[in-house]
Amino acid sequence: MKTLAVVGGTGLDQLKGLEIVDSHAVETPFGEPSRPVQEGRLGDVTLFFLHRHGSPRAIPPHRVNYRANLWALRKLGATHVVGVNAVGGIAPAMRPGRLMLPDQVIDYTWGREHTFDTGDSGELMHIDFTEPYDAGLRAAVVAAAGKLALDCETQGVHGVMQGPRLETAAEIRRMARDGCDVVGMTGMPEASLARELGLAYASICMVVNAAAGLGDEPLTLEMMRATLEREAGVVAGLIATLSRQ
Ligand code: HPA
Repeated sequence: MKTLAVVGGTGLDQLKGLEIVDSHAVETPFGEPSRPVQEGRLGDVTLFFLHRHGSPRAIPPHRVNYRANLWALRKLGATHVVGVNAVGGIAPAMRPGRLMLPDQVIDYTWGREHTFDTGDSGELMHIDFTEPYDAGLRAAVVAAAGKLALDCETQGVHGVMQGPRLETAAEIRRMARDGCDVVGMTGMPEASLARELGLAYASICMVVNAAAGLGDEPLTLEMMRATLEREAGVVAGLIATLSRQ
């Protein structure tokens, strides 16, 4: 039996349709999560929701306490975690307004607390990360997207940058050569920390802009937010369908 948690990002402050029944301020050995974890009901399913950026605060991607967030979700009993990430599109198919369910990740972040392996336990945590997302959970998300006939890419490479600044055009060209299809700032170390904790983890990427140098318009938060607002309802529907599976 799975217990699902959703880590929402920019544009997904609340899960539409989620009836909040409780809020949990969880203490962890790694400090405080971004905010208290909401427990809610979606139809007859219970799920946990945590806003990564700590709504209404705005914790930037490089300051999110990813370790505390995942630890808190596991402590509350979550077994499966879906991370929602706003991203820029690099590959031509990754147009703003599309969803992408990545099957691979390249981690360009640095200086983040990226492991539970503090070196104190005497055990080395060399997790297998060949396939960074849980196959079963990813298949369930793909199936839910299929049921809803969503305009969605069901595989691709998520390149995760440090931020908070956006990329240069040359960085995006390099990422394209590396094989990245989209670029974001929050997909790592969330995915690998989930693996260290034994949580099944998958990601839903919402493409909100063409990556630097690829679009006609200057990159602004306003244009990203406009796409996000339109897509948040689609993602909420996808998660509702997933939670019933
Ligand atoms: N780059 C990095 N992160 C992002 C972008 C982008 O273009 N859009 C949304 N998150």
